[in-house]
Amino acid sequence: MDHLTGFHGGELVDLIVDDERKRVLKDLSLHIPSLTLSERQLCDLELLMNGALSPLRGFMTRIDYESVLDRMRLQEGAFWPIPVCLDVTEAESSRLEAGQSVALRDPEGFMLAVMHIEEIWQVDKKTEAEAVYGTTETDHPGVEHLFYKTGSHYVGGRIEGVSTPLHFDFKQVRLAPAEVRAACEKFGWRRMAGFQSRNLLNRAQFEMTLRAMRQARANLLLQPIVGPARPGDIDYFTRARCFQAVAGHYPPNMMFISLLPLAVRMAGPREALWQALIAKNYGCTHFIVGPGHASPGNDRKGNPYYDPYASHALMEEHREELGVDVVAFEEMVWIRGKARFLPRSEVGKEDVVDTLTGEEVRYLLRSGLELPEWYTFPEVVEQLRHAFPPRHKQGFTVFLTGLSGSGKSTIAKVLLSKFLEMGDRPVTLLDGDIVRRHLSSELGFTKEHRDINVRRIGYVASEITKNRGIAICAPIGPYRATRRQIREMIEQYGGFVEVYVATPIEECERRDRKGIYAKARAGLIKGFTGIDDPYEAPERPEVRIDTTELSPEEAAQEILLELQQQGYIR
Ligand code: PPS
Repeated sequence: MDHLTGFHGGELVDLIVDDERKRVLKDLSLHIPSLTLSERQLCDLELLMNGALSPLRGFMTRIDYESVLDRMRLQEGAFWPIPVCLDVTEAESSRLEAGQSVALRDPEGFMLAVMHIEEIWQVDKKTEAEAVYGTTETDHPGVEHLFYKTGSHYVGGRIEGVSTPLHFDFKQVRLAPAEVRAACEKFGWRRMAGFQSRNLLNRAQFEMTLRAMRQARANLLLQPIVGPARPGDIDYFTRARCFQAVAGHYPPNMMFISLLPLAVRMAGPREALWQALIAKNYGCTHFIVGPGHASPGNDRKGNPYYDPYASHALMEEHREELGVDVVAFEEMVWIRGKARFLPRSEVGKEDVVDTLTGEEVRYLLRSGLELPEWYTFPEVVEQLRHAFPPRHKQGFTVFLTGLSGSGKSTIAKVLLSKFLEMGDRPVTLLDGDIVRRHLSSELGFTKEHRDINVRRIGYVASEITKNRGIAICAPIGPYRATRRQIREMIEQYGGFVEVYVATPIEECERRDRKGIYAKARAGLIKGFTGIDDPYEAPERPEVRIDTTELSPEEAAQEILLELQQQGYIR
């Protein structure tokens, strides 16, 4: 039959209850424990509640979970390759018991659902990792998540939904399966191919989806995945905007976009099957699978975790029970002389193939260079340029660390003037004194308080860096581990230049402009850095300055040279 496919397991599950029942559940919630869900758990809950995971009616119980691990089916027989479980910590599990209900809340405390607990059990993570991911290597991001970021126990049970998670972005393209199906019915679409992706829709993927539409004589449902990001992923706002921009390149009225709040597992072939089931619930009759679908790339030895075409084979094997036709694709490559894409196996001996790795794309963007036209669409380039500006347009932090009186503040002030003179970015000076007055007035100089103080500075600097400004920080910042944490926090958003103002203590004490060393020597101040409290010198600062030898202007010049060399200033 050539019309949209049925739901997996027969009927659409809609877990949202009616208004009367919502009132009952809200009253009940006053007397039952609560669980605050993580971003990933919220994604699972949303797909459970809107029917994308039909026929599941809640988080899996142990019998379904084990059956899924062993034979890729639910206990009652429906094909199902991936566990959908609610994990809790050991402490949380001891507060809960079977037969009880628990309120599932978002991080703001808003109750989204009530779960009626049927079972709580301790997870055998090794067995799950082997079954789902085919490995227990923690370099695999799915295994790493299971071993280090997943609670020790699972709680299974039926769910009654009060509200799907609240979203305020891209509302027009956040559609539930029933809404997608209603739209298809309205358009008169009988066959629809689904394409789900965590990546961008570049010309190669665009070409693949066009060919799939032709091959399956089907319309297209594009589902950019908007679940939690994995390290190195492009943020989902950019991804969704890119998909929307590319939509205009398809023939008119042939496709539409629906964001998919899916927490990807990176489980390769098993996950490809799962995504196909989800697409089926959205109404897809076909599912497009490229090479290495839902795979995390290579292992430590440089070998792919999964054969790039293992998904194709597994999907073909389970085609009947999936109830979705697979449109399998090889890698599409650009043939220079012919100015078109071809599947890798159709490339002739005389053809010249152009390729570009993700790393090369990032390099071109970072350096402000042009991306080749064959690679992607101008609208995507514009979004990418915005998401990955060249360094001279990114924010950065200059973090000066050193003893009291080493000259940090004076150098910081010179830098402030220089950056203001350049005038291309907003600048904030977070000098030790200013911070202690405005952010940390309640703190003293114990190790704990110094750490809080320096972390606060790091947080503010990371926000400034994220918003493409310049933060100049000048605390003593005596502890290496804390400085490392701050570096990690800031480097995700822009530059971090650690400047060790290495003026020796003898010189700092000789200057003693505030008379504070004298007080410390006299025992009037206890725990003074460099006297009777430690200063852990940076091991690999970007810049090292000794102000016994350099004037503040010369010191600032050294820092500006480093920034220039790194490309943050021109
Ligand atoms: S920290 O360790 O990074 O939190 O310190 P910071 O916020 O930069 O504050 C250092 C200034 O506070 C004065 N002060 C002390 N410094 C070190 N140890 C003790 N016990 C202490 N008590 C007061 C000191 O004069 C520092 O001033 P600067 O501006 O560095 O000369």
